[in-house]
Amino acid sequence: MDKLKLGVIGAGRVGQIHIENIFTIPTIELVGIADANIAMIQEKYPTVKCYKTADELLAVEDIAAVCIFTSTDTHEELCLKAARAGKHIFCEKPLSMSLDEVKNIQILKEIKAQRVQIQIGFNRRFDTQFSEIKAKAIEQLPENLQVVKITSRDPDLLPHALIKRIGGLIFDFTMHDFDMARFIMGKNIQEVFVKGDTLIDPTLREIDDIDTLIAVLTFEDGSFGIIDNSRKAVYGYDQRLELFGSFGMFKAENISDSMVEAYSELDMTRKNPYPNFAQRYRQAYHAELVEFADSLIEGREVPVSGIDAIMAQRVAIAAEESLKTGKPIKINTEVPLI
Ligand SMILES: NC(=O)c1ccc[n+]([C@@H]2O[C@H](COP(=O)([O-])OP(=O)(O)OC[C@H]3O[C@@H](n4cnc5c(N)ncnc54)[C@H](O)[C@@H]3O)[C@@H](O)[C@H]2O)c1
Repeated sequence: MDKLKLGVIGAGRVGQIHIENIFTIPTIELVGIADANIAMIQEKYPTVKCYKTADELLAVEDIAAVCIFTSTDTHEELCLKAARAGKHIFCEKPLSMSLDEVKNIQILKEIKAQRVQIQIGFNRRFDTQFSEIKAKAIEQLPENLQVVKITSRDPDLLPHALIKRIGGLIFDFTMHDFDMARFIMGKNIQEVFVKGDTLIDPTLREIDDIDTLIAVLTFEDGSFGIIDNSRKAVYGYDQRLELFGSFGMFKAENISDSMVEAYSELDMTRKNPYPNFAQRYRQAYHAELVEFADSLIEGREVPVSGIDAIMAQRVAIAAEESLKTGKPIKINTEVPLI
């Protein structure tokens, strides 16, 4: 095959970003879109065949792979259905909101048994800055990588109704950082200690969520990670990363429309970072789907696996426990066999 025939399930906040990208990728042919809100997709995408249910789209034989961009509470069921229909899968992170790892591993085993692949939407791995730091990290001996420090702050609070469908701060947001920390260090996380609270919106307690979090990670070789999350940074979408070690430091700063710093007698100014994830990670969202299509067309393994989802989810589950108990929680670093 020289083009991947693709179906999309879910065209909400993130689905629409991906669909706009898909239109620009020459190796992908978008065959159909399914969304429970069929009127919305018919109006937005008049040139694409639209379906109201995932089942209708999965029944289209011509489709070789599907992207699951629906809310997290549907991922497990849709991944299973897609695999059973013989479709390769790109699934937005996280794989599920379940605290039951065994169930998730069963899903990955079923996907493997159906001889299809799954890629998880850890888009930040494809960001040019973070992948440059990853490339530099690979040049080092693992013991030289001592501390990874991630600042990840959203520009504003999410509606409670959306949080119920996609998960709270740890499962929806910090999940990215757990994956990024493991990706950059190339080591598994052995312990997590979390402090978190509602410093911005106390009503989040009503849905058992928080808006501010600090996590201290210990990797399997004793090196460390620090994650600093907030749901509301008034200056924009704050995404920074620092890798420190015996070699010195690699550091990725925020990006904005202009990186020029203006100095005057009184002060120095620079433009705010990009306002949201759609703009900050535009290139990364594009690159992850290009890689997904190229891997399937060339018969290679996709770059971000179901195992990566399990390893990040393990840390998220332990982080929830740490938040509730106030204690550091040990994490199994053994990679599961699928
Ligand atoms: N990688 C990232 O940076 C990133 C960013 C945002 C969201 N996400 C993830 O993407 C997923 C979607 O989040 P969102 O904010 O776009 O949610 P959303 O609620 O805005 O969109 C979900 C869409 O899926 C549709 N839908 C839901 N269940 C369906 C079903 N069973 N069949 C057909 N359509 C269905 C809804 O009608 C809606 O249009 C979540 O898992 C979230 O964690 C990832």
